[in-house]
Amino acid sequence: MDPRQNPFTPGAGTQPPELAGREEILEDATITLARAKLGRAPKSMLLVGLRGVGKTVLLRRIEDLAQQQDYLSAFVEWHEARSLSEALLPKLRSILLRLDALKNVNERVKKALRVLKSFAKVRVKYEDIEVYLDIDPESGVADSGALDSDLADLMVAVADAAKARGAAVAIIIDEMQFLEEDELSALIMSIHAVAQKGLPLVLMGAGLPQLIGRTGRAKSYAERLFAFPSVGPLSRREARDAIQEPVKRMGVSFSKASVERIFEMTRGYPYFLQEWGYHSWNLADRSPIGRVVIDRASQRAIRKLDESFFRVRLDRLTPAEKRYLRAMAELGPGPHRSGDIAAVLKVRVQSVAPTRSNLIKKGMIYSPSHGDTAFTVPLFDEFLKREIPSRS
Ligand SMILES: Nc1ncnc2c1ncn2[C@@H]1O[C@H](COP(=O)(O)OP(=O)(O)OP(=O)(O)O)[C@@H](O)[C@H]1O
Ligand SMILES: [Mg+2]
Repeated sequence: MDPRQNPFTPGAGTQPPELAGREEILEDATITLARAKLGRAPKSMLLVGLRGVGKTVLLRRIEDLAQQQDYLSAFVEWHEARSLSEALLPKLRSILLRLDALKNVNERVKKALRVLKSFAKVRVKYEDIEVYLDIDPESGVADSGALDSDLADLMVAVADAAKARGAAVAIIIDEMQFLEEDELSALIMSIHAVAQKGLPLVLMGAGLPQLIGRTGRAKSYAERLFAFPSVGPLSRREARDAIQEPVKRMGVSFSKASVERIFEMTRGYPYFLQEWGYHSWNLADRSPIGRVVIDRASQRAIRKLDESFFRVRLDRLTPAEKRYLRAMAELGPGPHRSGDIAAVLKVRVQSVAPTRSNLIKKGMIYSPSHGDTAFTVPLFDEFLKREIPSRS
């Protein structure tokens, strides 16, 4: 088929041609947004799932939903070099300036701008053009230097400004598991403060499964503030829709056996479905696209994954971390007991505990329950066995 017409979109955060199996999450998000706008303090949603399941894509859709409900939104992408404050400030600033530009002068919006200035003064270089504001800071608010209370002051001021204008604010944060402990804790506390006042501001986030535990450790009341919808692989039927619907719109179809084979190979993981769909389309010369094509596409898709998706993750690891993961792979897809992994390595559990905890920090593995360890990247065990055939 014509590669220029290829409907599939393997990538990071790229909208798929058919967003299969996520109706419930999007419906919940719609309700959450509507309730937050009314000041009903709904639970904020933190989407949790493995690599490549479609978390970023969902956050983008949620941002669209928010805008349809006349929200002003701040989408924060994680960036290694920046703190949460640095990432949030320019976005909140532009929200406030938009609120300020609406209709006549509003004292609560002006106050929020002064609070933002106070907050910024403590945390970012004053000359930073992105947060520059020609206004005096609100002294004594958001300038204590304690991130917890300062961020809460700022969020409450922003939410209050939105309320004064009949608007609402959505803070959307991706890769939340990488926030520092104090940032996560401050974020939770500020959402708590906003919720208690019934102000129209909501947090919509996403992260790897370790986010759940990190949130609970940062603030014990977090579980009452947040819902953690899980974003998983697609079911057989959803996976069929994900690949069949886009080609159907172009007068093409996959044979039943092809769909079945793609599901088997991808286990329904969204990113893999895009990759398989993409290569199958390029290799096919007639419809329905048959099994022989799928087998050739599988080889290409696996090669592509090995060179990029899997590869970049392995390249960031130390030799000891690689050995730990390779030992896990030896045991299969997981989850595995820490003791079993140590046994494969022929060492004591305690001696590899630091390696394990670094791998969790790097987002490579997580602990689904106490003493268990699992990969955050689907099918990573099979990749490791291809990449490092023997463990010597
Ligand atoms: N529901 C879906 N149906 C079909 N394809 C999807 C679906 N959700 C996402 N995809 C596709 O999967 C790929 C990965 O999506 P996305 O980048 O949002 O995942 P992610 O969970 O954010 O991954 P990571 O943890 O690596 O950031 C993209 O190519 C996207 O088009
Ligand atoms: Mg993502």
